[in-house]
Amino acid sequence: MGFSKDFFWGGATAANQYEGGVFEGGAGLSTADIMTNGSHGVPRQVPWRKEDGTTGSEPLCFHSDVRHLPEGAIPAYIEDDKYYYPSHIASDFYHHYKEDIRLCAEEGFNCLRFSTKWSRILPNGDDAQPNEEGLAFYEAVVDECLKYGIEPLITLDHYENPLSLSQRFNGWDDRYLVDQFVRYATYLFERLDGKVKYYLTFNEINCIDAAPFVTAGVYNADPQNIANATYHQFLASAKTVLVAHERFPELKIGMMLAFGPVYPYTSDSADQLLARQMEDRTLFYSDVQMTGRYPNYVLADYERQGITLPVQDGDWDIIKAGVCDFLSFSLYGSNCVTTHTDDDIAAGEGNGGTFKTVANPYLKTNAWGWATDPDCQRITLNTLFNRYHCPLWCVESGIGWNDEFVDGTVHDDYRIDYMRANIASMKDAVEIDGIPLMGYLYWGCVDMVSNGEGEMAKRYGQIYVDADNYGQGTMKRSLKDSYHWYKKVIASNGEDLA
Ligand code: BG6
Repeated sequence: MGFSKDFFWGGATAANQYEGGVFEGGAGLSTADIMTNGSHGVPRQVPWRKEDGTTGSEPLCFHSDVRHLPEGAIPAYIEDDKYYYPSHIASDFYHHYKEDIRLCAEEGFNCLRFSTKWSRILPNGDDAQPNEEGLAFYEAVVDECLKYGIEPLITLDHYENPLSLSQRFNGWDDRYLVDQFVRYATYLFERLDGKVKYYLTFNEINCIDAAPFVTAGVYNADPQNIANATYHQFLASAKTVLVAHERFPELKIGMMLAFGPVYPYTSDSADQLLARQMEDRTLFYSDVQMTGRYPNYVLADYERQGITLPVQDGDWDIIKAGVCDFLSFSLYGSNCVTTHTDDDIAAGEGNGGTFKTVANPYLKTNAWGWATDPDCQRITLNTLFNRYHCPLWCVESGIGWNDEFVDGTVHDDYRIDYMRANIASMKDAVEIDGIPLMGYLYWGCVDMVSNGEGEMAKRYGQIYVDADNYGQGTMKRSLKDSYHWYKKVIASNGEDLA
């Protein structure tokens, strides 16, 4: 009755937060490689340059409402002591991949999610030929996984795009990126044919409103630019699915949604409506990628705002035919919203600040304001399955914490408690509600730089990495208590959660 025999247990990472080696192996820079470090309450910056040589920076990242660079500026890599770029070293997976994959295998993983960096394959995003060293690196990573029976799950676009494409085209605002992305994906499909079965197209595709530069390289982002970029990513995803289905029939391509159930703070019907609208606003993306059509509430909203979609002949057929094979999602917690403005309602940061939310008095929050919710897996799985009736896969869930490293380890009971509640809730959805779930991948299984803040202090891992916020440290890997706990859970296929 529990999790299926072939359930995927493992962890998830992303190149820009983990890989490092940014100037090695012939790679080009990505948009993430010019994002500076920040901290809680201090957004990351994106440096810019104008033709006349003037430079500056703007907080185009998460946790900021800035959506534009100054007139005539483009995002640029600027070498200056005042800027520190965390992706350049990150956790140095580039040089530690063999060790990390071995540790994951010893933990019992049968799946590892990682992202490939587009600009490692095509340094400018649209080069005529792929960079052999980039392809060889990812093939070596995949081979290392397969050596231990670990199924690789590749995210093709995880919060970074070739910087050159962002500079020249305002990122995904321009349709030019669609076919370049498909070429990039196809090079990987060809090279990894017979070795990798599962891919995701765009990580957390619905976070574009919250951070259009981070997700889509769009540095001048009016609502029309965001609608264009979203549409182009949908189209690119659909075309990629079609290439996979036609040329590599054994491949399964998933969409990836940042989800968190939205609760009304009160029983006031206005709060019910608001919660529903906010959840629908997220489900818009899975509606398109899993059913092939835009929901009416989005089209009506676009019309009110005077936004038009950059549709060309035949696009809708492609979007319809290229729906994804499964729905994957990240889930960190839930959100709580209200129309009420009473003084005693505390502000909340919800699921990583994606929405403006209020604190849920029934839940605990961590130091970054993220609420942890023991029931959110079950609620999420029911919501998604009952809407799409497709295979689901939780490919991210985790908790960031300022871990204390003492005597060669971290006693991270708080992480174990979080995981226990999540896995138990997921188990209820599978056992009691009959939801088909493909797997559970813990986010940031090895410590890495946080995306929102660009700092190492917000650690998620079960494997500790000796590096500080500035990449200083030995990079030595050590096992935390949660590593041993998760190993036991995996060995019992989710039965032993003690
Ligand atoms: C998800 C992203 O939103 O959340 C990851 O896909 C990110 O890239 C993770 O790292 C946790 O967020 P943060 O900001 O704490 O790193």
